[in-house]
Amino acid sequence: MSKVVHIRSGKSNSPFRYAGGKFYARKLILPHIPITKVYCEPFAGGASIFFAKEPSEVSILNDLDVDVINTLTQIRDNLDNLLDLLDGIPATKKLHAFYKNEYKPGNELEQAFRWYYLNRTSYSGIMKKENCYWGYGEKYSMRPENWPKHLRTVSDRLKGVTLTSVDFETCVDTAPDGSFLFIDPPYFNADQKKFYPCHFEMADHVRLRDCLARNVDRLMFLITYDNSQGVRELYDWCDVMEEKEWQYTINRTDDQKNGKKLSDGHKSKRSNGRELFIKNYDKSIVEICQPVRLPNTIAKK
Ligand SMILES: C[S@@+](CC[C@H](N)C(=O)[O-])C[C@H]1O[C@@H](n2cnc3c(N)ncnc32)[C@H](O)[C@@H]1O
Repeated sequence: MSKVVHIRSGKSNSPFRYAGGKFYARKLILPHIPITKVYCEPFAGGASIFFAKEPSEVSILNDLDVDVINTLTQIRDNLDNLLDLLDGIPATKKLHAFYKNEYKPGNELEQAFRWYYLNRTSYSGIMKKENCYWGYGEKYSMRPENWPKHLRTVSDRLKGVTLTSVDFETCVDTAPDGSFLFIDPPYFNADQKKFYPCHFEMADHVRLRDCLARNVDRLMFLITYDNSQGVRELYDWCDVMEEKEWQYTINRTDDQKNGKKLSDGHKSKRSNGRELFIKNYDKSIVEICQPVRLPNTIAKK
């Protein structure tokens, strides 16, 4: 497997608000991503890192949650019809409740419309139905009139991207040799069951470890996980394990860069993300190539 790597970065935002999303850690993560022909996220969610990086020749986004992948697919392939459905629909608590509890989508397009509307108007983008609460605020959420422009950018970025909804094992085992995988599974210790319709049990964490171990010689991967002893033990065979810390703000996502303050009775709550970055490739190789800025260069095989 080639381990010639170059570092590059890019700018874009996920179409979603996403619990456990890596929006606030983008600047920490991007410098670890090598340029490879194939970039793959087996646990895509809002795919904050995919949208922040510059395009690879081949990109694969996968998530077991079919709603996540269907919404990305409709944004990519059926944007005009999706925008027609969203046209003129305001963000209101009443409509949020209607789309959550009463609306019955008749096809995949309507399913994506419903999911996107709820996602943009829910507290922290938590989409598990029991915990999907109204969480839109004029000062900290993206306004509906800005959704179409954002979705057009996202749709363009998704062109040519492979979107799949399978279990991570299938995704990892079938990734082409030499691919780089950004692995962002549900947390090990945190109460992740309340966030996602598809969550992890302990057996899944072990399954992921085994799956990555059997692919270690043919793929490069960066795993982000909560900083815990259990994770350290599972991955003691990996080349690099680094502690990372960053600040994030509960409630706000897209407007952070505008420096907007919260209102509507919500308080901006700053927290620290503390995670482990685990890699199976050598940091010195990344550092050697760091000064080389070749935006469209693919690693030579
Ligand atoms: C921490 S989130 C990923 C967040 C993403 N990196 C972002 O920036 O938005 C973990 C994701 O794993 C997905 N997931 C859970 N079990 C899975 C499985 N067995 N195979 C693939 N995806 C799974 C969940 O649906 C969730 O979207």
